[in-house]
Amino acid sequence: FIYLSSLHSRVSVSFWTVLFLPVSLRLICSCLHCLTTPNRRWHEARQWCHQHLSNMVTIQTPEETDFINNLLPFNQKYYWTGIRKVDGVWTREGNNKTVPEDAQNWAPEEPDKIAGQDCVEIYIKRNKDTAKWNNEKCQSKKGTICYSASCTQDSCSAHADCVETVGNYTCQCHPGFHGPRCEEAIACKPLLEPQHGSHHCFHPYGSNRFNSSCRFHCELGFRLLGSPQLLCQTSGQWNNPVPLCQVKKCSPIFFPVTGNMTCVDTLEPFSFGSQCNFNCQEGYNLTGDSLLTCLASGQWSKATPTCTVVQCNSLEAPPHASVECQDPLEVYSYGSICTVQCEEGFDLIGANMTQCSSQGSWSHTLPVCQAKKCNPINPPPHGSLSCSDPHGSFSFGSHCMTTCDEGFLLNGTANAECTSLGMWSYILLDSPSLCCPPAKRCPALNSTTYGSLFCFDPHGEFSFGSQCTSACEEGFLLNGTADTVCTSLGTWSADIPHCLAKRCPTLNSPPHGSFSCYDPHGEFSFGSRCTSTCEEGFVLNGTANTDCTSVGKWSRDVPRCLAGLIAISVLSSGTV
Ligand SMILES: *[C@@H]1O[C@H](CO)[C@@H](O)[C@H](O)[C@H]1NC(C)=O
Ligand SMILES: *[C@@H]1O[C@H](CO)[C@@H](O)[C@H](O)[C@H]1NC(C)=O
Ligand SMILES: *[C@@H]1O[C@H](CO)[C@@H](O)[C@H](O)[C@H]1NC(C)=O
Repeated sequence: FIYLSSLHSRVSVSFWTVLFLPVSLRLICSCLHCLTTPNRRWHEARQWCHQHLSNMVTIQTPEETDFINNLLPFNQKYYWTGIRKVDGVWTREGNNKTVPEDAQNWAPEEPDKIAGQDCVEIYIKRNKDTAKWNNEKCQSKKGTICYSASCTQDSCSAHADCVETVGNYTCQCHPGFHGPRCEEAIACKPLLEPQHGSHHCFHPYGSNRFNSSCRFHCELGFRLLGSPQLLCQTSGQWNNPVPLCQVKKCSPIFFPVTGNMTCVDTLEPFSFGSQCNFNCQEGYNLTGDSLLTCLASGQWSKATPTCTVVQCNSLEAPPHASVECQDPLEVYSYGSICTVQCEEGFDLIGANMTQCSSQGSWSHTLPVCQAKKCNPINPPPHGSLSCSDPHGSFSFGSHCMTTCDEGFLLNGTANAECTSLGMWSYILLDSPSLCCPPAKRCPALNSTTYGSLFCFDPHGEFSFGSQCTSACEEGFLLNGTADTVCTSLGTWSADIPHCLAKRCPTLNSPPHGSFSCYDPHGEFSFGSRCTSTCEEGFVLNGTANTDCTSVGKWSRDVPRCLAGLIAISVLSSGTV
């Protein structure tokens, strides 16, 4: 019930009338203890309420405003509310709660910014701005309204604000809670485990209830798509859809047409677990690894391999040849065909074409260019042949020249060249008549007196090259050069020598004697015979004759002439 201490009983009666008239407010009103007293200062009013085990009215709902405005009589000074400015904030007395902006019910132009006007009055039954608020000096004196609170500690759960209503209370649930005492958290739908993933939740107010939070994880090789954490909201909805676990993708591989790629995918193309095998077409080599795996990181295990054209060795033209190639792919690589051509005058020995195989080798070895051969030629009689052979003897480019032996005359062309056709430019290079015998002869020779002549005639009697040797008979000595040669000028190299008889030593006539000589080949020479004779009275002791022999010695000494006696004795002995 309500105390209106300063009012008359008539008022009190009318108050009770008011109290019970609106059926909807009747029950509420029964617990409201309004107490009006003489006008008091705000602090005095509060103290007064406390003394009567109640509080100042803090006006929490529009129903409360209407109720009080209807209930209370008009007071010239109006009534204090339990609202006061604390630290610049309008605060409800009793629970110290801030008055929310939208719950403030100020009269127009209020609240004033005047200092000290920190307490709030309510214009009960004012003809203008009725039941609106006005801030006033707390020292002002106004009517007091008290009420006893319906909210107790146990009225609502911890997840509600207990709000005083007129005569009762309501539990104003905190967001996320419901129920009469707001003790039950709002439920969200249970979450399903994502494919290839899992989640773990923390449930502060029960399984999948308000403020339950769930964190999602994906298996190795999967990427979480969406929010990793879901929160059960006050609305009973999760704040985000359940995330997806999407397999990690590797970058797609574009393999060149010169090769083949075969992939095996466990989930999706080019994704975690995919394995791709590579090989190259014939004539191409694989560079790099042939097997690639898409890793859990979304990266390929290795770099993409490439197909490179098989290469053959580069070719070098053989001597005297040119090489021409057609390369469908690359120079000296698979499919290249090279043809070889020999220079003029050279024959191609071997294959004139070679091809680069898929194994990187040439199908044929390069041919050889061999100089064309001319018939071999021999030097002509009485001549010699000298050749310069840039490409081998008697071959294309060979240049031969005939030189006749000394004394022989060239009869024709001395030069010939082996042409590019393999023919000599001059055919009769080795003709037997190319070197003619010499035109000049030497004078005929006769052997010298007492001598003989022996000749060697390679080219005819007393001709160029004839060599004659003179020899002397026994007892004769050669005076001059024994040998003479017929030169190319037609003259003999030396005169024919003479043969001179060998000389014996000069003889002296013996004492008492003399001698006379017969000299067929000169004095005291080979063939000379000297005969000694003695003077009268002397006898020749020995043989009278001595001969000059073929070796140039006397056959015996000149005899001596001895006196007569001795000569007789000798004669008498009869030895002669
Ligand atoms: C409100 O605050 C005042 C001082 O700031 C304090 O003395 C009083 O106990 C508080 N009341 C409640 C209900 O918290
Ligand atoms: C007061 O409110 C509570 C909760 O809303 C309700 O259970 C109770 O019946 C009410 N009491 C009266 C007397 O209306
Ligand atoms: C709900 O969770 C939020 C953030 O996680 C937190 O700030 C808030 O205090 C929680 N509410 C309750 C009632 O536990």
